[in-house]
Amino acid sequence: MYVKNIRLSNFRNYDNLSAEFENNINILYGNNAQGKTNLLEAMFLCAFGRSHRPAKDNELVEFGGQGYTVSAEIEGAYGSPTIDISSQKGEKKSIRLNGIPVKKLGEMMGTLRIVMFAPEDLLMIKEGPGERRKFLDMSISQIKPTYFYDLQKYLKVLEQRNNLLREMVENPKLSDTLCIWDSALTESGARIIAARDAFIKRLSGNALARHSALTEDGENLEMRYLPSIRAENMEDIDEIRDLFNKLLERSRDREQKMGATLSGPQRDDFEVYVNGKDVKSFGSQGQQRAAVLSIKMAEIDIIKEETDEVPVLLLDDVMSELDKKRRDYLIKGISGVQTFITTTDKRIFKNLKNKDISYYNVTEGILKKDKKRPSKGS
Ligand SMILES: Nc1ncnc2c1ncn2[C@@H]1O[C@H](COP(=O)(O)OP(=O)(O)OP(=O)(O)O)[C@@H](O)[C@H]1O
Ligand SMILES: [Mg+2]
Repeated sequence: MYVKNIRLSNFRNYDNLSAEFENNINILYGNNAQGKTNLLEAMFLCAFGRSHRPAKDNELVEFGGQGYTVSAEIEGAYGSPTIDISSQKGEKKSIRLNGIPVKKLGEMMGTLRIVMFAPEDLLMIKEGPGERRKFLDMSISQIKPTYFYDLQKYLKVLEQRNNLLREMVENPKLSDTLCIWDSALTESGARIIAARDAFIKRLSGNALARHSALTEDGENLEMRYLPSIRAENMEDIDEIRDLFNKLLERSRDREQKMGATLSGPQRDDFEVYVNGKDVKSFGSQGQQRAAVLSIKMAEIDIIKEETDEVPVLLLDDVMSELDKKRRDYLIKGISGVQTFITTTDKRIFKNLKNKDISYYNVTEGILKKDKKRPSKGS
């Protein structure tokens, strides 16, 4: 699939933008603070209904404006859906899919599938487990809509259960009602854990192939899931659910004391090993970046296999950090994938032998397509 056109009004530093794109590599170049990342952010918004940055919706509105709109037309294997997002002051954000209002975010998930690699994605390695769970949740939701529904349900029940546990600190009699939440929690929780296990196993296999090709000396990469509930057979949802129930029973006293649910997917994590060592603790900056890149490339592979659609790839500030060899490998590896690459220096692409590259200059929220490829030495 690819983004055929995108229209922005009062979005970040774009007053009005209407841009057409082809199904190829699009290089967005320009100085710092001109709107390159903002444009990728708008595309991400069309895929997930939210920014890839921890930005609140009103921060996306152009300074001084009353609201923004973002519209995109997608060309996919199964049609040409349109997405319209509008957020106006004092109103709830509205999302339309093919002109029809979307009531739940899950209804739009998968319309535009995006794999993004932005500086923030390194947090997936560097930071705590929350970032890694966020990665899992967004990736799996794009492939498997039922996962997104399970997750929404789980988080809602978890919140209600935690509220009850907190109230029970004052009022222990409430404990009789706890079991009402337990079955809903373990049902959806078990499905989430099984889906995460299957996804990580598959991702790990694909990322290994991608990584050994990306790195000169064929580094080995492995991902290991650290589930909060470990069943003998991680495909067996009933087994996971029963174990989860037992765990809740056993930790009931402790949960009441702490006022929080102590086990479940909200405690999951995964590790990434490069050549047998945890890349979080022992990897160089470059190794960590390469590991995330390989994982993202593997995600593209899985989306292709699972959905028969090629996702759109967004690479923000990635290219200049890679050496030439890795850059070349990356460009080769994304043939057939519509890709948007931001850079402050378009010269790093000048020797690429890929004719399917378009260049766009971004200056102060205005996008201008280059007429022809930059000549050598420019
Ligand atoms: N809500 C907003 N309204 C207007 N301008 C905004 C808004 N939010 C951010 N900006 C402006 O957008 C610009 C940053 O845009 P963006 O992050 O896309 O830059 P960039 O081209 O990716 O730069 P870099 O190369 O440094 O990454 C900044 O000048 C910032 O002030
Ligand atoms: Mg940027």
